Amino acid sequence: MKKPHSNGETNGAMQGWRTAIVTSDPSNIWIRGYDTVSLMQRGSFADVIYLLHRGELPSPAERRLIEALLIGISDHGAGAPSCAVGRMVASSNRQSVAAAVAAGVLAIGDEHGGAGSPCMEQIADCLDRVREDGVTLQEAAAAVVGEAISEKRRLAGFGHRVHHTKDPRIDFLFSLARKAKVAGDGVKAVQALETEIARQIKPLPANIDAALAAILHDLGFPPSAARFIFIIGRVAGITAEIAEEYLRERPMRVRIPVAYDGKSPRKLGPAKKKAKK
Ligand SMILES: CC(C)(COP(=O)(O)OP(=O)(O)OC[C@H]1O[C@@H](n2cnc3c(N)ncnc32)[C@H](O)[C@@H]1OP(=O)(O)O)[C@@H](O)C(=O)NCCC(=O)NCCS
Repeated sequence: MKKPHSNGETNGAMQGWRTAIVTSDPSNIWIRGYDTVSLMQRGSFADVIYLLHRGELPSPAERRLIEALLIGISDHGAGAPSCAVGRMVASSNRQSVAAAVAAGVLAIGDEHGGAGSPCMEQIADCLDRVREDGVTLQEAAAAVVGEAISEKRRLAGFGHRVHHTKDPRIDFLFSLARKAKVAGDGVKAVQALETEIARQIKPLPANIDAALAAILHDLGFPPSAARFIFIIGRVAGITAEIAEEYLRERPMRVRIPVAYDGKSPRKLGPAKKKAKK
């Protein structure tokens, strides 16, 4: 391959940015050094997501795992906060697709779709305790759950508003990770935490964020990756929900039942007279 060169953006007064991700010349685009058209011919979108974030192409088994995660994340119905908010904004602002998509993405956070990163930190916490304190993984998970209870914290990645006993995506993802020989300490730590949560709190199934956290940990991603991968996957669903809102629904159709429990109507007192100069 010819050495990719600067596309000329460094010649102006502004100092050039450093990047190791993408470069281009008048007839080529390279992603992490691979020609984009070759990737279009022989790769998949999951390959390119992995390549963009990790710098190397995934193995076929790793690609399959990333694809399965993205499918699992893509949509959970119009009522999921990210989809509901996207639809709400599409309903009132029909001129800006970007505003509706961005609004949907902004609904993703610690309580919805954002639990993967803290769950990866919980996994790391368990594994650190095993290494540093010489305890078993189950004992480490028991300590992590116990601390969360005494600090009145929820454990990220466990519990679901709909799937109270089992998240239908999890067993498949973990068995795929085992088949791919990717499943390691991350998957084991999530299972140890699930057992301890059931023992110390109540049965709260590992949710998609926990599966994402476990598998990304075992693939060697850093904790921040869980948020990025969730957003990448969910944008597919948010855009479909917004498109349906535009195509099937009338503007401003959303009417939320609101119960007012504030002050009864009351009169303003007499207006104060202005002081004469
Ligand atoms: C997803 C979630 C918001 C659902 O909440 P919910 O509908 O209130 O959950 P449930 O009705 O099943 O359970 C409520 C009870 O279990 C407890 N609980 C639920 N999830 C918990 C968790 N992850 N850690 C500790 N306790 C939890 C709550 O404190 C609550 O106890 P309380 O009744 O004494 O107040 C909640 O499980 C949660 O916060 N999970 C962690 C964040 C997360 O993983 N989010 C991604 C979801 S896909």
